[in-house]
Amino acid sequence: MAVYSIRDAAAEDVRVLTDMMVEAANWSAAGFRTRADVLADTQHTRYVHGWRRPGDAGVIAETQDGAVVGASWFRLFPADTPGFGYVAPGVPELILGVSPIHRAQGLGRQLLQATVLLARAAGYQRISLSVERANHAVALYRSEGFTTLDRRGTRDTMVLNLR
Ligand SMILES: CC(C)(COP(=O)(O)OP(=O)(O)OC[C@H]1O[C@@H](n2cnc3c(N)ncnc32)[C@H](O)[C@@H]1OP(=O)(O)O)[C@@H](O)C(=O)NCCC(=O)NCCS
Repeated sequence: MAVYSIRDAAAEDVRVLTDMMVEAANWSAAGFRTRADVLADTQHTRYVHGWRRPGDAGVIAETQDGAVVGASWFRLFPADTPGFGYVAPGVPELILGVSPIHRAQGLGRQLLQATVLLARAAGYQRISLSVERANHAVALYRSEGFTTLDRRGTRDTMVLNLR
């Protein structure tokens, strides 16, 4: 099994977070969008634009030779420009992505757990996310204690209590 290291995401990591945001937007091969299409959509770019502003934090997974293969992070959105998984003011939204050939080895879970630790350490009471109900990531989130708060079309908003 490959060996990965996990480190904090710095301001210079906006490019690799963008790569993982494109992965997350393309969770299903059926609805594949080119990188250019995803980057032209502010509903997706809002998760990385201006990284790392106050309230942003996250982690990055690298191989032993320094290649970035996954990332998970959170960010706060104001009520007038919410993200897909907006719940309330002061509740950050989580984003998670792993490069396809590095999936199904436990890396997504490790990144998720590290991000939850960061959010808890930052003093947040809850963290939320939005996931397509058909995405196998739902099982991952449930197994880490997230519960479904709201169902919006084909997406679920899930929340984890951090207290
Ligand atoms: C979701 C994602 C981050 C999971 O990363 P990963 O490294 O493959 O996940 P892990 O190996 O840690 O697996 C964690 C859990 O996810 C679920 N899972 C992972 N791969 C799965 C698969 N192919 N089929 C079904 N469930 C799967 C399982 O519940 C698994 O737990 P288990 O190993 O105890 O059974 C990754 O598949 C990904 O980047 N997908 C595209 C982007 C995306 O969908 N992001 C989430 C948007 S909300």
